[in-house]
Amino acid sequence: MPYNRTTLTHFLLQEQRRLGGSGSFTGLITDIIFACKMISHEVNRGALAGNLGMAGSENVQGEEQKKLDVLANDIFLHMNALGGSYAGMASEELEDVHAVHGAADGKYLLLFDPLDGSSNIDVNISVGSIFSILRLPEGCSTINEAAFLQKGVQQVAAGYALYGSSTMMVLTTGNGVNGFTLDNNVGMFLLTHPNMTIPVETKEFAINASRSRFWEAPVKRYIDECQAGKDGPRAKDFNMRWVASMVAEVHRILCRGGVFLYPADSENIKKGGKLRLMYEANPMAFLVEQAGGAATTGRGRMLDVAPTHLHQRVPVVLGSKAEVERIGAYHAEYDAKA
Ligand code: AHG
Ligand code: MN
Ligand code: MN
Repeated sequence: MPYNRTTLTHFLLQEQRRLGGSGSFTGLITDIIFACKMISHEVNRGALAGNLGMAGSENVQGEEQKKLDVLANDIFLHMNALGGSYAGMASEELEDVHAVHGAADGKYLLLFDPLDGSSNIDVNISVGSIFSILRLPEGCSTINEAAFLQKGVQQVAAGYALYGSSTMMVLTTGNGVNGFTLDNNVGMFLLTHPNMTIPVETKEFAINASRSRFWEAPVKRYIDECQAGKDGPRAKDFNMRWVASMVAEVHRILCRGGVFLYPADSENIKKGGKLRLMYEANPMAFLVEQAGGAATTGRGRMLDVAPTHLHQRVPVVLGSKAEVERIGAYHAEYDAKA
C-alpha cells in the first residue's frame, strides 16, 4: 500500500496551522477518531462478539435499543471525556445532556448519533456514527439543554464515520469536505477522498417509498416526475436507492450526487418528522453545503432552523443543489396556493 498519504491527524494539524489560531481541531477530533475505530471494530466482529440483537431497553425516542446502539453510545461518552475538550455531550441515546466531570476547561459541546441505521446491524448492511461540534456559549457555567440549542450554522465541525465495506471518516471544519479511509493494518485513517464535491445535477433519488400514501403533494409531485422518466417532465430516467442508513445515503451523495428526502408526512408530522435536527440533520447539512450541495426542510435552509429542544425532529431534503432547489420550489408553489 502507498505510504505517502496524509493521515487524518496530520491533515488536522495542517488545517490548524493554516488557520493560525489557537483552536485545536486535533484535540477535538482525536477522541472521536478513537471512538469510531473502536465502534468499527465492534461492528466488524458482529456475531462473533455477540454484538447483534436487541439490548432489551428503550431510548428517549421510544425506540428499542440494539446492543450496538448502547455499546457505541458508551464508547463515545467514555472516549470523548478523556481529552478534556468537551464540557458536555448529548446523544440520541440519552434523554438528558451529559456534563463531563473534570472538564472545567472544556470549551466545546459534542452531539452525536452513536450508531445510525441500526435497523441494518443484524443484516450486515452499512451503519455509521454522526457527530456535531458546537462552542460552549460564552459565560455558560451550567451544562444544560439550553447551551446546546444553537443553530446549525454555528457548528465548528461535523462529520460521520461509515462502517461499510471499508470504514471511512468524512469531516468538515468549515473548509470543504474530506474523506479518510481506515487502514486496519496500521489503525490509521488516511486521506483518500480530498475535497469531496457533490455534482449539481443527478439522476438518483433516495426516499422511503413505502410511505408514499402519507406524503404531502409537493413531495409526491417531485417523485412522480422522477418516476415518469424519459417521457415525463424531467426527460430523463431516474434511479432509486434506499439503504435506511442516513450515513450511507449521504456518503453516496457526496461521492456521486443524488438527493435524499425524509419529508414530514401526514403520519410523522405529529413528531415534526423522522430525523433528528441536532445530531442527524444539522451535521449532514453542514457537510452537504460544504461539498457544494444544499440541505433544507423543504421550506427553508436546515442550518438556519432555530432549535427548540434537543431531540427535535425535522423534515430533511438534501443533496445535489438543483434538485433540492426544485423540491423547495414545489413546496413554495404548493404553500402559495394553500
Ligand atoms: P437511527 O438508527 O439512528 O434511529 O436512524 C435511522 C434513520 C436514518 O438513518 C434512516 O435514514 C432512517 O432512519 C430510516 O428510516 P426507515 O426506517 O423509514 O427506512
Ligand atoms: Mn440515526
Ligand atoms: Mn442511532
